[in-house]
Amino acid sequence: MSETLRSTNAGREWWRSAVIYQIYPRSFADGNGDGMGDIPGIISRLDSLQELGIDAIWCSPFFTSPQNDAGYDVADYRDIDPLFGNLNDFDNLVAEAKKRDIRIIVDLVPNHSSSEHAWFQAALNAGPGSPERERYMFRDGKGENGELPPNNWGSVFGGPAWTRVDDGQWYLHLFDSTQPDFNWENKEVREEFKSILRFWLDRGAAGFRIDVAHALIKEAGLPDLAEQLTTMSGEDAERPKDRVSPHPFWGQEGVHEIIREWREVLDEYEDRAMCAEAWIMPLSRMAKWTRPDEYHQAFNFGYLETPWDKERLQAVIDDSLKEFGAVGAPSTWVLSNHDVIRHATRMAYDKIPKQGDGIGPDYEQPNIDRGLRRARAATAFMLGLPGGAYIYQGEELGLPEHTTLEGEYRQDPTFFRTQGKRVGRDGCRVPIPWEKEAPAFGFNETGQSWLPQPDIYASYSRDQQVGIEGSTLELYKKMLKLRKKYELGHGDFSWHKDSIGDHSLGYVNSGVLVLANFTGSNIPIPQGEILLSSQNDLSSGVLEHDQVVWVKL
Ligand code: NOJ
Repeated sequence: MSETLRSTNAGREWWRSAVIYQIYPRSFADGNGDGMGDIPGIISRLDSLQELGIDAIWCSPFFTSPQNDAGYDVADYRDIDPLFGNLNDFDNLVAEAKKRDIRIIVDLVPNHSSSEHAWFQAALNAGPGSPERERYMFRDGKGENGELPPNNWGSVFGGPAWTRVDDGQWYLHLFDSTQPDFNWENKEVREEFKSILRFWLDRGAAGFRIDVAHALIKEAGLPDLAEQLTTMSGEDAERPKDRVSPHPFWGQEGVHEIIREWREVLDEYEDRAMCAEAWIMPLSRMAKWTRPDEYHQAFNFGYLETPWDKERLQAVIDDSLKEFGAVGAPSTWVLSNHDVIRHATRMAYDKIPKQGDGIGPDYEQPNIDRGLRRARAATAFMLGLPGGAYIYQGEELGLPEHTTLEGEYRQDPTFFRTQGKRVGRDGCRVPIPWEKEAPAFGFNETGQSWLPQPDIYASYSRDQQVGIEGSTLELYKKMLKLRKKYELGHGDFSWHKDSIGDHSLGYVNSGVLVLANFTGSNIPIPQGEILLSSQNDLSSGVLEHDQVVWVKL
């Protein structure tokens, strides 16, 4: 790639190679000590993110919300919930981040609003047949008196996807009953969201992460789900899709028209980007969402779901580079977020629970050393790849999932809608530790915490890792620094041909060899300058199992 194009990419098309750090505002840092993280808290910790070496922050929702789904139930898209601060705080965040060369990405939740949103309240009051109801998915029920839901769709969080209101109609909610789905065939809804995009872009947002980007359009007539799909949610429902009829709400073709309208809005501004949260498989389908006039990026969930396994990793990387490359988009790489079991825990298991189900005290408990060792290796393997990369808060500390959180503390609607059968996602959302000896491990000064932190978090605290050679934090810093230095985000990828044993896999990006030893005997480290290793000790000159090394050839 030419020098000119490279510098252009660093500017206008920064997202092609950016490392984006996900902040879950409830759990990052709490400025006012009420036990709930907030925007002033984020600002107070920006220096540590600058030191880490990230390019942008994606903040999960901080908008006005009754918090029934931790803020993914938005009551006012143009304001900040007092729990997190106010619009001034947001402006300060953008300004303070900018001083540190960090961009702020906002989380847009367009599939549904909160039931407390003014439009939904108006819809309830206006009654059947009104234009107010047209903005949502209201339908008459089946059965003699409309007492049965309009179809057999289930909520992703468990239970039915329909709730009946007093006048007898039903409304659709693919998630919690307090998250009614918008009707995206409605012109007002479309105009409103373009205006919301502009609202945040005008305030300096670098772009958007788009929630449930694949669900906006529902098949006309809202047909029943085929039998085998009824109990499945999210990406599980997607998988059998090609074998049965098209899915009536995941990945309908009509969504592309909406994305293109949004892209036009973003293109009115410089340097802005959108990333789709779309659990759409296979990657060849997902990649269509990132065609030049659609999303800039999509989360590569195919990669996230790939276990620490040589053949499967090789296949998913090939597939990603090929499919996203075919539409001129960068691939993204991601291992953790606020909806999945943290990868430091996930990788401890050979078989893990389904996405969204979580791990509770009754589940077999993980071997955290094994998990962390593999997680460090997996991240070192990931961060050498060309494209955009996502990091979830706390993974730079090697933080495990809270796997013993008792039911009484659970807040994820999944837990309640399944009567505790699926414990849900709270285990990856626990406030992160900053200082071992401080109240709530430095999350705030009062010791309060909306979810209790497990004692083991003490030893993962940032202050226990800063400046400590070999700590997970220092490993992440080193990886991000070298990634920048060698411009790996823009790099030229090829598999390392000299295979060294059947349990290793390597690739070369811009002269840097990234080599993994999966689960076998030691392998020799090729000649060159060793830049880093996912485990500390390389004095023996060999790469042990579950270990990755970066070598400058
Ligand atoms: C995906 C979000 O990441 C998740 O946390 C949320 O519960 C659902 N979408 C519904 O908005």
